[in-house]
Amino acid sequence: MRAYLACFHDPCGAEYPVTEVIYNCPKCGGLLEARYDGAVTEPWTLKQIWRERRMSNHPLDQSGVWRYREMFPFLEEDRHVITLREGNTPILDACIASSYAAVDRIRFKHQGFNPTGSFKDNGMTAGASQAVRLGMKRVACVSTGNTSASMAAYAAAAGLEPIILIPNGNIAFGKLGQALDYGAKTLQVDANFDQILAIVRILSEKLGIYLLNSVNPFRIEGQKSIVIEMMDQLDWQVPDWIVVPGGNLGNISAFGKGASELYKQGLIAKMPKFAVIQAAGASPFYEFMKAPHEHGFVANTHPETLATAIKIGDPVSWPKAWRAVGTEGLVESVTEQEIADAKAVIGRCGIGCEPASAATLAGVRKLRAAGKIGAEDNIVAVLTGNVLKDPDYIYRYHTNQLQGPDGSSIHGTFANPPTVVPNDIEAITKLLEG
Ligand code: F0G
Repeated sequence: MRAYLACFHDPCGAEYPVTEVIYNCPKCGGLLEARYDGAVTEPWTLKQIWRERRMSNHPLDQSGVWRYREMFPFLEEDRHVITLREGNTPILDACIASSYAAVDRIRFKHQGFNPTGSFKDNGMTAGASQAVRLGMKRVACVSTGNTSASMAAYAAAAGLEPIILIPNGNIAFGKLGQALDYGAKTLQVDANFDQILAIVRILSEKLGIYLLNSVNPFRIEGQKSIVIEMMDQLDWQVPDWIVVPGGNLGNISAFGKGASELYKQGLIAKMPKFAVIQAAGASPFYEFMKAPHEHGFVANTHPETLATAIKIGDPVSWPKAWRAVGTEGLVESVTEQEIADAKAVIGRCGIGCEPASAATLAGVRKLRAAGKIGAEDNIVAVLTGNVLKDPDYIYRYHTNQLQGPDGSSIHGTFANPPTVVPNDIEAITKLLEG
């Protein structure tokens, strides 16, 4: 099996060894992706191997990413793998959410069950392992919080030095706290995500630090496992729709690549359709997809949303995301109010998630109302982050104190405020009986 990097840009297609430390094509500047040549194992055999590994105590088999390692064979040696037993995330039924979106059944694949509480771990295990394989000493990223938490954890586990740059005052405390605890050198920059990405790219090159943002093609390879594990859990029955929030668009790029590789190798019988949901104040991909050829891709220089995880105006992976969505998929945008209410509904299902993740349910509801998704369609939405990532947002919503980025108040439609009671059993009894 030959693994190599290839330029994603159509006329270029230049190829490079996987051991070269590059993030864009040196010839044309296009995005890179990992590709593989050689014999592939027969689908039925692969499915058997993957099922059997669930019984194994081997660290790679216990990982919900490396269990599927035949789909991303870019490492030569297993000893380079850094795993925190990521993946293995459940697909959960959610009746209340289904009725809220007016569909028969929506299920959530909850990536918040990962070791650091977000889907980033699926990609970071691959990126960190590649860093080890390359003999890198320091790793860096810009982040809206989850990438940095994940990178810090995997770097710490690998004995690498994590350096994170985050937009000052714009990431949730749960995420910042994680990075501090995992020992990352943390730089809070007075700039937004897109501006800091430009800085960290230059710094990485100048200082020989390995960049672990999703422009790193190995991150994408790891994140493919979310779709692979999903199909395995669904006994290879492909849903009609896979719904995902869109920020820097790495995840949708990974899903598209993963699904099309499964399809080409005969592991699934059809392609799922993808729906990408963005926050209305940070929706350049949504704007682009309305008429892709009219103005080209136009970045939003002032992205705004309380769903800070997806507060990104210039997503690097948009060309890959465009391919993934294709002509069958959909891109939608949802308001702050819609995100906040959908989040509370997901909470009421006993599931919970962070704000960005809830954009999925808000999006399905909107697409259903517009008749673009059918009531009987088989839908799996991906919840990208854990409910505990952003407790401040939750408290404000449930106490009717949440305000949008423009200062407008967001109504706690499903508010469930706590009640302060005196230290008096009679009074408490009265309250509970009333
Ligand atoms: N949901 C959550 C919870 C995220 O943290 C992110 C991205 C997304 C969705 C969007 O995914 O960028 O692949 O389209 N967070 C990044 C970060 C940007 O730095 O943690 P995407």
